[in-house]
Amino acid sequence: MLVSAKDMLTKARAGGYAVGQFNINNLEWTKAVLLTAQECNSPVILGVSEGAGKYMCGYKTVVGMVKGMIDELGITVPVALHLDHGSYEGAYKVIEAGFSSVMFDGSHYAIDENIEKTKEIIAAARAKGMSIEAEVGAIGGEEDGVVGSGEVADPAECKMIADLGVDMLAAGIGNIHGKYPENWAGLNFDVLAKVQEVTNGMPLVLHGGTGIPEDMIKKAISLGVSKINVNTECQLSFAAAVREYIEAGKDQQGKGFDPRKLLAPGFEAIKATVKEKMELFGSVGKA
Ligand code: 13P
Repeated sequence: MLVSAKDMLTKARAGGYAVGQFNINNLEWTKAVLLTAQECNSPVILGVSEGAGKYMCGYKTVVGMVKGMIDELGITVPVALHLDHGSYEGAYKVIEAGFSSVMFDGSHYAIDENIEKTKEIIAAARAKGMSIEAEVGAIGGEEDGVVGSGEVADPAECKMIADLGVDMLAAGIGNIHGKYPENWAGLNFDVLAKVQEVTNGMPLVLHGGTGIPEDMIKKAISLGVSKINVNTECQLSFAAAVREYIEAGKDQQGKGFDPRKLLAPGFEAIKATVKEKMELFGSVGKA
């Protein structure tokens, strides 16, 4: 069954760990993340960007695929299906399509407009029992066409958005989508601590989970981060494993060209990455 992310994040906040959001791209990705969550007895959030939603033939298709897999694979751990960096229109689409959680990313609007639009999305999502994530400041880099300046969040603005009644808040603290550059300054823990203080312990979201050193991840969790998003790292492990298979000529041996064989190493590589992250975030055994 799909669930809202609210309960799993409240428990994570209280228990001092974080739940991973793993972005999905296709059937292999979804199956790999769901099976790993079940094997690790961990709650999990499946992230769907607007680009990935389009690629997978629309949000209704995604809902059908995820619900079908939960049923057919016997997945019993809590699973939230969440729109990642949703636009105003995209948020309404997933509310209609049957997602269980939504991020409305109004960070590129002026704060007054971000507040007004977030308020509206909260009302519409609440009517369906969904959880809501909002964003203040901006995550740097680019993800699926969403480009962010990397602006560090203003804690006063974070409080205004949190007070609207969102369930989780993404505050820009120097984090970036994709690989981190050599000269990256690191996460801004002073701002993170301030945001947690003014939002009264609200579960905070760390985007750009790929490539953040383990000690920074642990410190972020200790300062209130309860959800960590990972996308690029699964893509990199998938690509490396499939490349190795092809470079070894395995696609030319026997029926090695069968897509179920060709994509299997990538599938196993995603599983290994997801397991590693669940262990690091501390969500193993917390379902
Ligand atoms: P990465 O691709 O850097 O892991 O970021 C994922 C993310 O934040 C999704 O919103």
